[in-house]
Amino acid sequence: MEFVKVDVKDAVATITIDRPKALNALNTQVLKDIAAAFDSLDLDEVRCVILTGSGDRSFVAGADIGEMVEMDSAAGKELGRVGNKVMRDIENFPIPVIAAINGFALGGGNELAMSCDVRLASDNAIFGQPEVGLGITPGFGGTQRLARVIGNLSKAKELLYTGRNIKADQALELGLVSAVYPQEELIPAAEKMASIIAANAPVAVRNTKAAVNRGLQTDIDAAIEIEVELFGELFDTADQKEGMNAFLEKRKEKNFQNR
Ligand code: HXC
Repeated sequence: MEFVKVDVKDAVATITIDRPKALNALNTQVLKDIAAAFDSLDLDEVRCVILTGSGDRSFVAGADIGEMVEMDSAAGKELGRVGNKVMRDIENFPIPVIAAINGFALGGGNELAMSCDVRLASDNAIFGQPEVGLGITPGFGGTQRLARVIGNLSKAKELLYTGRNIKADQALELGLVSAVYPQEELIPAAEKMASIIAANAPVAVRNTKAAVNRGLQTDIDAAIEIEVELFGELFDTADQKEGMNAFLEKRKEKNFQNR
């Protein structure tokens, strides 16, 4: 992997997009490397992922404009398909992914962040979908996820049509991110959240993510049935017995086995 680093420590994998000269812009190779980084994770070992950018200026400053400038419509569609698959695979990745947004999250960068389960930002982070100013639409899911993530169609359309950027505090107000930290506290905060998630029963966390994601794509009655299935099947797991017995025995230490 040329542009992505993977570091696994204590059941938490940190995936760092590392193309600082271009503010971590997503060219074809970066997209391939991100996919390869997720594929490389051993889910018996890793229980939560942190996705971030290298340096203290940029998470991802968008798709690579130099690579896109001469594309025709066939190439544009292919790029949209490839990029959207990477985003969708992250959204559907079996374990939680926390975006630690350490600076610019523009265009494809904001779209990448929105594919993650939880977004935490540094106080210098800048968000936006500037595509219309470049003569394109958002192409890695932004026309679809922004409204879904912030739950405010008027604001989502305003941001998409104006292409204007917003700062971290405005992103927090909109619900685009969960919390904002000084730059040096961002990764420690993400690691703390990841370690809390990683200490819970992994199979229960996985089923919770699947229930939320799958349920949001269907009507409420079908969604409740999805929850019933994913809830019920956990009663055949060792970790459900362990979690409940630990409570009844007043034990703080739990020995979850991921099964
Ligand atoms: C290619 C990029 C880039 C990008 C930055 N760089 N963003 N290269 N694609 N998206 C490069 C610059 O060309 C420059 O390279 C270096 O990174 C540093 O950037 P500067 O512009 O010199 O830095 P600064 O003046 O601080 O401005 C930072 C910035 C600006 C505000 C983030 O770089 C910017 O506006 N970038 C483009 C943001 C954007 O429009 N993103 C959306 C892209 S479209 P050199 O070699 O000159 O030093 C998109 C669509 C997704 O994402 C869907 C597609 C299907």
